[in-house]
Amino acid sequence: MPEVEHNQIAAFAADKVNLPAAKAKEHREQVNRLRERLQAKINEDPGFSLVKMLHAGSVAKGTALKTVNDLDTAVYVKKADAPDDDRNLVPWLADRLFEAAPPNMTRDQFQEEDHCVTVNFKGSGLNVDVVPVLYEGQPDDVGYLVNKRTGDRLLTSITLHLQFIRARKNEHGVDFAQLIRLTKWWKRQAVTDDPDFKFKSFMIELLWAHLADAGLDLSDYPTALEEFFLYVVRTEFDDIISFTDFSSVAELPDRRTAPIEVIDPVNPDNNVAVRYDAAGKKRIVEACQDAFDALSEARYATTKTRAVDAWQSVLGPSFRG
Ligand SMILES: Nc1ncnc2c1ncn2[C@@H]1O[C@H](COP(=O)(O)OP(=O)(O)OP(=O)(O)O)[C@@H](O)[C@H]1O
Ligand SMILES: [Mg+2]
Repeated sequence: MPEVEHNQIAAFAADKVNLPAAKAKEHREQVNRLRERLQAKINEDPGFSLVKMLHAGSVAKGTALKTVNDLDTAVYVKKADAPDDDRNLVPWLADRLFEAAPPNMTRDQFQEEDHCVTVNFKGSGLNVDVVPVLYEGQPDDVGYLVNKRTGDRLLTSITLHLQFIRARKNEHGVDFAQLIRLTKWWKRQAVTDDPDFKFKSFMIELLWAHLADAGLDLSDYPTALEEFFLYVVRTEFDDIISFTDFSSVAELPDRRTAPIEVIDPVNPDNNVAVRYDAAGKKRIVEACQDAFDALSEARYATTKTRAVDAWQSVLGPSFRG
């Protein structure tokens, strides 16, 4: 029997990794209040350029870590009304959001970032990042999402992404989201070791969806995590990862030339990993190799201390066994 087993990892996740349910509820309510304000403004002014707000990030998906420090939202914007360039679009969006704000908020609480607006809630609550979605009335909330870090315009749908994640959660129960959170937690440790390390949360989620869809047993966390890391080490992203939730097989692309191809379930032309170059891929594969080696060592360690040490290299020093 391994010295560290599923139950210890599950207990660690519940205690240290997961955003507690009450906190998640608080955060969702905070977003809802902002959304309701905005909706009231939209209802009273049909000519208003904003269409709706959706809660988009990990708190909405149920994959947030305890360390979450912002809430991601997408505000649908009438494309014809919006300036094209982010240097004009972002201040314009901040002005519109301020117009819809409660009277006790000031304009400087709508902080203009390069590609999004950050709404600062003084005192309590997390900041809310608002990214624009340039929208022309397409069904299923499909529009051009502005990536908050890069400014890339991505034709996609937040609503269908939430559906995609929800479908796996329904099928696999808590294990699906838990393994995502554990993997994101590992990623945080990897970033501590190497500040340039990048492995986007949405990519991690899509990789887990791919493995779950392929029938991987998610019920034993040490084994499932080993399989995740092994998958990356074994394939080195030579496979294209894509899904048929919203596309037919015929619509899915063949593997092209990008170092990593993880295809957006909503838009076959959108490679979620487009920003990763060969060096970025190499970093991920190496980090997964290290994690896989550590978990193998933990599995066969003959003392508890050794097993815990190995797990600590994956989950960080707060893991005590
Ligand atoms: N490249 C992309 N293509 C399409 N949609 C994207 C892309 N990147 C992000 N998204 C959308 O934004 C949402 C947020 O994803 P992201 O990876 O930025 O962070 P997150 O899930 O909030 O995790 P974290 O806990 O790291 O903040 C995704 O669920 C998806 O709907
Ligand atoms: Mg987020």
